[in-house]
Amino acid sequence: MSETPDEPVPRASDDPTLDDLDELSLEERASLTSGADMWRTTAAGDVVPAIRLGDGPHGIRRQPEEAGDALGLENSVPATCFPPAVALGSSWDTGLARRVGAALGREASALGVDVVLGPGINIKRSPLCGRNFEYFSEDPHLTGVMGAAVVAGIQSLGIGACVKHFAVNNQETDRMRVSADVDERTLREIYLAAFEHIVREAGPYAVMSSYNKINGVYASENHWLLTEVLRGEWGFDGLVVSDWGAVNDRVASLAAGLDLEMPPSRTDQDIVDAVRAGRLDEATVTRAAGRLRTLTRRVAAAERFDGWDVDAHHELAREAARGSLVLLKNEHDVLPLDLAAQRVAVVGELAQSPRYQGYGSSHVVPTKLDSAWEALRAAGPVTFAAGYRLDGAPDEPLKREAAEAAGASDVAVVFLGLPGDAVSEGFDRTSIDLPGVQVELLRAVARACPRVAVVLANGGVVSVAEWDAEADAILEAWLPGQAGGSAIADLLLGVASPSGRLTETIPNRLADVPSHLNFPGAEGHVAYGEGRYVGYRYHDTLGTDVAYPFGHGLTYTRFEYSGLDVRETGANEWAVECTVTNVGGRTASEVVQLYVAFDEDLPSRPCHELRGFAKVELEPGTGTQVTFAVTGRDIAWWSTARGGWRIDAGTFAVEVGASSRDIRLRAELTTPGDGYVDALGRMSTLGEWLDHPAGGPILRDRLGDRFTGMAESSPALFNLMRGIPLAKFRSFGIGLTPEVVDDLVAAVQ
Ligand code: GLC
Repeated sequence: MSETPDEPVPRASDDPTLDDLDELSLEERASLTSGADMWRTTAAGDVVPAIRLGDGPHGIRRQPEEAGDALGLENSVPATCFPPAVALGSSWDTGLARRVGAALGREASALGVDVVLGPGINIKRSPLCGRNFEYFSEDPHLTGVMGAAVVAGIQSLGIGACVKHFAVNNQETDRMRVSADVDERTLREIYLAAFEHIVREAGPYAVMSSYNKINGVYASENHWLLTEVLRGEWGFDGLVVSDWGAVNDRVASLAAGLDLEMPPSRTDQDIVDAVRAGRLDEATVTRAAGRLRTLTRRVAAAERFDGWDVDAHHELAREAARGSLVLLKNEHDVLPLDLAAQRVAVVGELAQSPRYQGYGSSHVVPTKLDSAWEALRAAGPVTFAAGYRLDGAPDEPLKREAAEAAGASDVAVVFLGLPGDAVSEGFDRTSIDLPGVQVELLRAVARACPRVAVVLANGGVVSVAEWDAEADAILEAWLPGQAGGSAIADLLLGVASPSGRLTETIPNRLADVPSHLNFPGAEGHVAYGEGRYVGYRYHDTLGTDVAYPFGHGLTYTRFEYSGLDVRETGANEWAVECTVTNVGGRTASEVVQLYVAFDEDLPSRPCHELRGFAKVELEPGTGTQVTFAVTGRDIAWWSTARGGWRIDAGTFAVEVGASSRDIRLRAELTTPGDGYVDALGRMSTLGEWLDHPAGGPILRDRLGDRFTGMAESSPALFNLMRGIPLAKFRSFGIGLTPEVVDDLVAAVQ
């Protein structure tokens, strides 16, 4: 597999002049703002060629020309099914993600796809979301950095990437109508942040607007989202395409900044009529057509291939899966296995019928498919017992047979997981439990065998608390893609050490999830009542117990952290360095995580937030220095009042650790803030005036020491008065007449 060259990612060129679009009639320009069919855009003479869009985030789903069912979901030509984002994200490996992206770009090019509809970067607000397998994390920083790597990989060949679903598409229930009701600070800090990072850092050629509404306005008609924020603030210069069928009003969508409706609704005449009637500016139509033309020019420069090395891409899929699986526990070092010295029973139908991807628009027809059972059997003498039926129906003989096989073994490796239709686009789960028959099987095996290792195959987090005690080891394999079976065997046998880390908290119970009481909403609305407190931001701020925390993952060795050094490198800029050493006996990788932390009695923000990570592979006995840059934005919060990011003066800490709950090093820092002070006015309180760097002296000068004595003599009265807006004092006869207050406001401004 050729490494992608390190040349800069081809960024969107300057927005071109629209000169030669003038050759096109209004009708032709209007036709460019809608597709030609399910997957292709419209051509216009020799000015704008047609290009092809195609799913999906972890493999190319290219329907043969003659196919194309109504929803465009059935059969497609074979392509590599890489690990979906739930797994790839768990690798915390940007280099790997970029190489997978480049391989996707290569296969897209070979299959005649010009724009890949991915990566999907929505935040995992609830583990119940049916499409969580297509998304990276509960954390926007991790999502943004990993998503940017995939985009950079795809676009390294000139093929376009289309990040989705913009925005706040965190459930499948009622996704085409529901309004995600969310405050702006939560939007900015959690649900938009990954899109912002990717737009600014990786320059995706396209963004896909989501089906849902945001605070009552459809994303595809949301001018604030698609024009003011995406383009005005973040500088996006690509094309906005709708999710398939997400446009409800062509004119409103174009006016909001959506450029391309997919698939076509055959309503171009509405556009022409609206322009002719003065309801839509013709320049808006020309601008959208121009963005399509720009996209066609960008992808026209893509390298074209007539195929790819199928085995090499399969090996990359295996490497990606190996780097993504998460070892949750490993008591008595039951893993790795030693087939030469141990009798090993492989239990569970999923070992030979691999669960490796989810259902829906991301579904890929794989070029190959590995099973863990075949890979283990090829490595040495192991026995097999199905243990349960995939349809979830109880089967006592199967269970008994598995218990007997386990009873004749030193170690039983039990493959458990979710039914095939549990993780899918279009609907959400209602539970995070494993099928009951599988838990029963595990208990039967645990009664019969001294050592038990569980391997999980699931696209969304499952609760483990109910049966964790039955397992000495748990390897979370997510949906590991077409080569996942071999990767699982590689890790079970110690060919490589597990190196994945959780990108989503595993709660003890569904009821512990912060969004639980507000998911999935009702009557067309879902309230994001938990605000910014998603995942570890909630659990760590409140100190709630979880099964396995964000960032957690074991390896077959141990790492030590030392030598934390923090240097100020500029105004609100720091360099953070530390040394990580492999003090165990096996080569393995560590994911060093950096959090910024805020210690507050009454939380006004999450107690800590991920702001950096680095994955390092180390031989036994060796160490390396890891460096992070911390910027003002890393410690800023979004002020709705200010309409921008704010940095408060004060102290904070940088934490370096192996997970959100395994902090190894910590340093306290101070920041002067960003110098922003709130403007004072008539309705600013006495306390805000007295605490204000400019307002305080002016007020004291005007009112003398009227309040000084009070703070000592009657602190309760003083505190009560601090909370009163200045304009309200006019009835208290202390000299703060409306005229005096107006003078004060004039003076401080
Ligand atoms: C689907 C999905 C989107 C996909 C598109 C095309 O409804 O929401 O992710 O890319 O339609 O299949």
